Amino acid sequence: MAGEHVYVENLGQYDGRAVTVKGWIYHKRSSGKIQFLVVRDGTGIVQCVVLKNEVSEEIFALAQRLTQESAVEVTGTVRSDKRAPGGYELTLTGVNLVHLAEEYPITPKEHGVEFLMDHRHLWLRSRRQHAVLRIRSTLIKACRDFLDDRGFILVDSPILTPAAVEGTTTLFETDYFDTKAYLSQSGQLYSEAAAMAVGKAYCFGPTFRAEKSKTRRHLMEFWMIEPEVAFATSETNMDLQEQFVSYIVQTVLEQRKPELELLERELSKLDAVRPPFPRISYDEAVERLQQAGSDIIWGEDLGGDDETVLANQFDRPVMVYNYPTAIKAFYMQPNPERPEVVLCNDMLAPEGYGEIIGGGQRIHDYDLLRQRLSEHNLPEEPYRWYLDLRRYGSVPHAGFGMGIERTVAWICGLQHVRETIPFARMLNRIYP
Ligand code: 4AD
Ligand code: MG
Repeated sequence: MAGEHVYVENLGQYDGRAVTVKGWIYHKRSSGKIQFLVVRDGTGIVQCVVLKNEVSEEIFALAQRLTQESAVEVTGTVRSDKRAPGGYELTLTGVNLVHLAEEYPITPKEHGVEFLMDHRHLWLRSRRQHAVLRIRSTLIKACRDFLDDRGFILVDSPILTPAAVEGTTTLFETDYFDTKAYLSQSGQLYSEAAAMAVGKAYCFGPTFRAEKSKTRRHLMEFWMIEPEVAFATSETNMDLQEQFVSYIVQTVLEQRKPELELLERELSKLDAVRPPFPRISYDEAVERLQQAGSDIIWGEDLGGDDETVLANQFDRPVMVYNYPTAIKAFYMQPNPERPEVVLCNDMLAPEGYGEIIGGGQRIHDYDLLRQRLSEHNLPEEPYRWYLDLRRYGSVPHAGFGMGIERTVAWICGLQHVRETIPFARMLNRIYP
């Protein structure tokens, strides 16, 4: 009687046949002689009908006892039903209880975000969170496919490192036997070594910033993908970024439409994300902002609100290039005609999502890099290997880093990055 184990997403191939679905009770309702068990198995949800007249008394009673999130194996016949979610329903012949769940804390009623974040390990079971997890998974695969298909080699960067990449104020420090180590803020410096070895390289992994800011765009631990290309310039770097971002957005749109729809994402906004992307200089960005009423002055970094105002002027991501040297990292290549700006760019996502990419051309001259380290009060010793790259066949090169969570937040249309990573690390949260 027990049918073949079938995943809910494949039920359509088994119309009229007996199957077994293994999963959890999502919710249930009953009306006297009939019970509806809604079972989720990770691939989808299916409504299961238990008819008093057609199953044994034991099975009907067992179905009545089932609580939300109890684990079950249900056996029944697949019937197509247009009204059912997913288009199919199961008429049950058997129920096997694997585990009777205790009273489940997350009920269909509304819960506050802090409560849900405290129960994140359970919250992941909800449909919206499934959709986000799936989109994140597809997006990461798309990032890797894009680079792998274009001859990039994945070269992993270390997490425990001796030196800062993005300034010393956001470093997580840890003991490393009788010395200190820092959790990586970015794999970039190692990606540069990799690019000099294999030409086109990328690293992908978790990165860490002790950001004292509590915003909807900041996590302490986030994932970054960082391509780096030898003989590249800031221009070709921007070409690569617009190809890359268009590809991943279109791929998610193609492969995760039901999930985007469940999240009520406006699909036409994503459809518009195709090259070329607008490119404006930092100078122009400041002018545009001043015209829009901002009190920003040349030399200041763009704040979150500035980024939103600018991005709202375009229907696709905008690249802002050549920021002031003084507000950017030590490794950035100065513009030869205007050393007060560097050959870098940020990419700002539309609809208020702000910066998703930071990147640019790196200093390839040994003496200039040493000088910059000293101007930034950075010790030379931990960067000796990085300086070496400028001693043995140094070439102009460029790369960028894209934050996965901010990109997922934008593509999903989520208010806050906390829902884009399975277990968020935030200023006041390291649980669960
Ligand atoms: O602009 P950032 O700091 O650039 C770098 O780290 C470069 N070393 C990357 C490179 O050129 N290889 O960070 C890059 C991206 C940001 O645009 C943003 O998407 C993300 O990383 N990011 C964060 N995401 C979530 N929480 C934070 N605290 C983030 N800080 C940066
Ligand atoms: Mg940045």
